[in-house]
Order: sequence, then C-alpha cells, then structure tokens
Amino acid sequence: MSALFIQLKHELLRFNAQKKSIETIFIGGGTPSTVAPELYTEIFEYIQPYLKENIEITSEANPNSATYEWLEGMYSLGVNRISFGVQSFDEKKLKVLNRAHSPQMAKDAINNAKKIGFKNLSLDLIYATLGDTKELIQNDIDTAFSLPINHISAYALTIEEGTAFEHKPQMSSEQLEITSWIFKSIIEKGLPQYEISNFGKYQSSHNLGYWKYKDYMGVGAGAVGKLDLKRFYPNPDIEEYIENSCIIREESLTSEDKKIEQFFLGMRSCVGIHADLFSLNERKQANILVEENKLDLKANIFYNKDYLLADEITLFLTS
Ligand SMILES: C[S@@+](CC[C@H](N)C(=O)[O-])C[C@H]1O[C@@H](n2cnc3c(N)ncnc32)[C@H](O)[C@@H]1O
Repeated sequence: MSALFIQLKHELLRFNAQKKSIETIFIGGGTPSTVAPELYTEIFEYIQPYLKENIEITSEANPNSATYEWLEGMYSLGVNRISFGVQSFDEKKLKVLNRAHSPQMAKDAINNAKKIGFKNLSLDLIYATLGDTKELIQNDIDTAFSLPINHISAYALTIEEGTAFEHKPQMSSEQLEITSWIFKSIIEKGLPQYEISNFGKYQSSHNLGYWKYKDYMGVGAGAVGKLDLKRFYPNPDIEEYIENSCIIREESLTSEDKKIEQFFLGMRSCVGIHADLFSLNERKQANILVEENKLDLKANIFYNKDYLLADEITLFLTS
C-alpha cells in the first residue's frame, strides 16, 4: 500500500489540496473487489479532512469477487455507490467476454448491496458483441431493470490493445440502429440518458466531473490525473510503480487541446458547450445545427439532442 500512499501525498501537494476540496472518489481498476476493504482504511483516514460533505464515493466491483463481506466492508468505509461490471446476464456471452461470474452471481451481488444499504447501484452492460441478438440484449435490459439499480452504463465493445480481443476485430460489430434501439429501450424503461453510455435516475457526479472538464487526481499504477493544462500518467507497470510511484510522465495540453476536448465531452453528454467557448465561425456552425434542430441553445449553452451524432457534430462545429 505504501507506493499508493506515497503517490497520494505527492498528488495532494501537487494539487495543493485544501480541506473539504475533494468532491468525488472513484475506486476503479483493476478489480477493487479483490482488495480487502480493511486495506483501504489507512488511505480513507488520511484523506478524510480533504473530503467534501456528502461526497460521492464509487467503487467498481466484479460480481464474482464482490462478496457480502466485501460489500459490507466498503459500505462501512463510506463508499456509497457501487458500479457492478456485469456486462451481460447471458451465460454464453459472459464466457465469450471472459468474465468469471454467472448471471446469478451478478443478481445476488446487486441484491446483497441493496440489503446492506447502498442506494446508488449501477451496472455495466456491453453490447455490439459478435453473437448479440435483440432477444439477448432485451433479456439483459429486462433483467437489469428487475434489480434494485438506479443507473446503467451501456458500452459498445471496443477492441483494445493488450486485451484478449486485440487480434479479433470481428468480435465487435456495432449497428447504429441497434444501438439506437438499446438507448430507446433503457430510456423508455425509466432511466434518462445523460451521456452517450450513461443512463440514470441518479447521475454520477464523478462521471459528470470528467465531462465538465474538472481537474482530477489519479492515484495508482496507470491512474491518469489532470490539473489545468497538464495530464499526468503514473507508471502502468505495477512492479515499476511499486519501485517508485512518483515517476510520472507529464503531458502538456494547449488551450486549443482543452477546447476540442470540452467540445467532444460536451456534445457526448448533458453538459453541453458554453457559447463563450466558440469562435465566430464555430458559432455560425452551431447556429446552423440549431436551425436543423440538432442542437438546443439554452442560457447560452449549446446542448446536443442526439448523442449518437456527438463526434460528427463536434467535427462539423470545428470544421
Ligand atoms: C468505464 S468503467 C465503468 C464506470 C461505471 N459505469 C460508472 O458509471 O461509474 C469499466 C467498464 O468499462 C467497460 N469496458 C471495459 N472494457 C471494455 C471494452 N473493451 N469495450 C467496451 N467497454 C468496456 C466494462 O463495462 C467495464 O465494467
């Protein structure tokens, strides 16, 4: 734990963190549910003075390792939102996705979390996977809504380097009309969409923080951080990170980089883009999209009306 602690102290200094300045915490991974809750105690005690009242503290969890005891332990630490990496409630698909849990384990873990007292429960679903059918996805969505959750994240499978599918691009097959149907199904069942992949009666403050381009501290091997126009990349290699957790690669962003990122994030989410960020030409492009009913302009902020068009709209705005 000490490597993490050393980097945490380093980052608190770098961010000149003040008392009650930390707005949200997100424990992600790797797999936080394989780490015993008591191992987090020292860190939680140390950061307590920096935490804002009623802070949102999320932990990711995999159903196969999120035991009742683990959930209870995290709850007593002050974690108040769990995001379960369910991915699907279809046995065969879980095997295709190399997930170690069964549909029943996922249901049990979520129901246990509710019993323990967690109010904000989210689950992740992956779609656009080879072998997906409307029936399979419908069953995933129906099963999700049969559980005590108030948030769903739905991700199209992407082929990432260094993962099992790296050399199997055929595993990912997105059809926009299916994606649009998935979004519509989740919305009609009662979870409003607030970002291209996120639906919730409860909106995650941590996620919103990213999309509002707020600064964030990344602590841990490979946990990226951002402060003003700088991004920090701790060593992703766990052994090397443990050796020296303060060897951190820095990336300088230009104000133009910042603006383009704000455009992408604003169009992909309910955050929108403030009109003051637009150049004259971008403002002209935005007005065209308002006339075409693709953007809304409210209180000097442009809002996207179809997240599936987000990237195209951003390219049009900046063209
Ligand atoms: C992005 S975080 C989840 C954050 C969470 N939804 C929340 O609201 O706090 C981890 C999730 O990313 C998704 N994911 C991981 N690898 C992926 C891939 N290659 N393609 C698409 N989604 C992936 C999985 O659903 C995984 O559970």
